[in-house]
Formats: sequence, C-alpha cells, structure tokens
Amino acid sequence: MNIAVFASGNGSNFQAIVSAFNKKNSKVKVKLLVCDNPAAFVLERAKKAGVKILLIRRKDYASKDEFEAEIIKNLKQEQIDLVALAGFMRILGPGFVNAYRNKIINIHPALLPSFKGAHAIDDAYKYGVKVTGVTVHFVDEGMDSGKIILQKALYIGRVDTLESLEKKIHAIEHKLYPKVIRLFLKSLPSRCF
Ligand code: GRF
Repeated sequence: MNIAVFASGNGSNFQAIVSAFNKKNSKVKVKLLVCDNPAAFVLERAKKAGVKILLIRRKDYASKDEFEAEIIKNLKQEQIDLVALAGFMRILGPGFVNAYRNKIINIHPALLPSFKGAHAIDDAYKYGVKVTGVTVHFVDEGMDSGKIILQKALYIGRVDTLESLEKKIHAIEHKLYPKVIRLFLKSLPSRCF
C-alpha cells in the first residue's frame, strides 16, 4: 500500500507515519509528501527520510480545480492508495474528494464533532472542557465532518497548561495515526484499492 501524506507545517505526524512504516520489506510505505508551503519544516523531514516531495503552491494555478488536478496526476503516477492529511491547511474540493473517496483520512486534535477548525487544541483548552482528545476520520466535502474512524480521549488536569496539553495531544496523535493506517492494511482485501 502506497501512502501520500499531505502537510503544510512542522510534520511531526508525517515523521511518525514514516518511522512506523518506511522500513525494509514493509508492505506499506509513505511514497510521497504533498506540501503547499515552501517554508514548511516537513520538507526537511522528507528529504532526510528519502521521501519524494511534491511542493505545489495554490497561487501558481489559475483555479483550485487545476491545482488539485495536478496533485491527482502525481498521486496516480505514484500509485497512491491512501491519502493521509496531517496538518494540511486546505479544504479539498469535491473533485478531489470524489477521486479518492474513502481513501482520504485526516487527523484532528480534538474529539469531533467538538472543536472543528484550525485551532482545536487552543479552543478546547480555552473553553474549559475536562476531556478532549484526537480523532482520525474520513475526509468528505465538509470541514472535519467525515465519518469517524478512531478517537482517543484524555483528561485535562488542573495542572495542565496549553503547552502541556499540546504535548499530550501530539503524543497521542503519533500513535493513533499509524494505528489507523494499520487498520486500513488489515481491511485491504475487502476494500477496492
Ligand atoms: C496536528 O495537531 C494535527 O492534528 C492537525 O495539525 C497538526 C499537525 O502537526 N491537523 P504536525 O505538522 O504533524 O506536527
């Protein structure tokens, strides 16, 4: 199974997935990083790990459809079976979602459907919820709205700060995302990859 990870920033989830799967004789491999931000640290991580990079900027294309068509062309070339969004700061259009329906997953740092959007950890902390967590879900046309695959919860203690919460959330993410990808691998015979 060939994975493409889409990321726009730090890439700690990219790193976790690569560390879990890009090993000798592994049946699952991250074959491509798709990144829309030339300043993203994830690019360094991909270079170091020897993962092919597609650095593609929306502003270089006349329309979102053309931008996404170019990404799809690259995914086809690399025979990608699964797209894992990991901090990719864009909503994918219906054309893209249709082309890879049920083969696009995303990780979100809160217990969906609570705290959708780009500042979920901060929002949950400021709201004062006592339980939050991480969600991995399928991607549909909406924002953080696709079917939930797995969630992991954690308590926010009285001593937790925003920083300590962020650390705990990321530690959960780095285990949960590879776990979901393993589930995909197990269900391969019943899927139409
Ligand atoms: C993660 O918290 C993920 O849940 C969210 O974006 C963040 C990406 O972090 N979608 P990183 O770039 O993988 O370190």
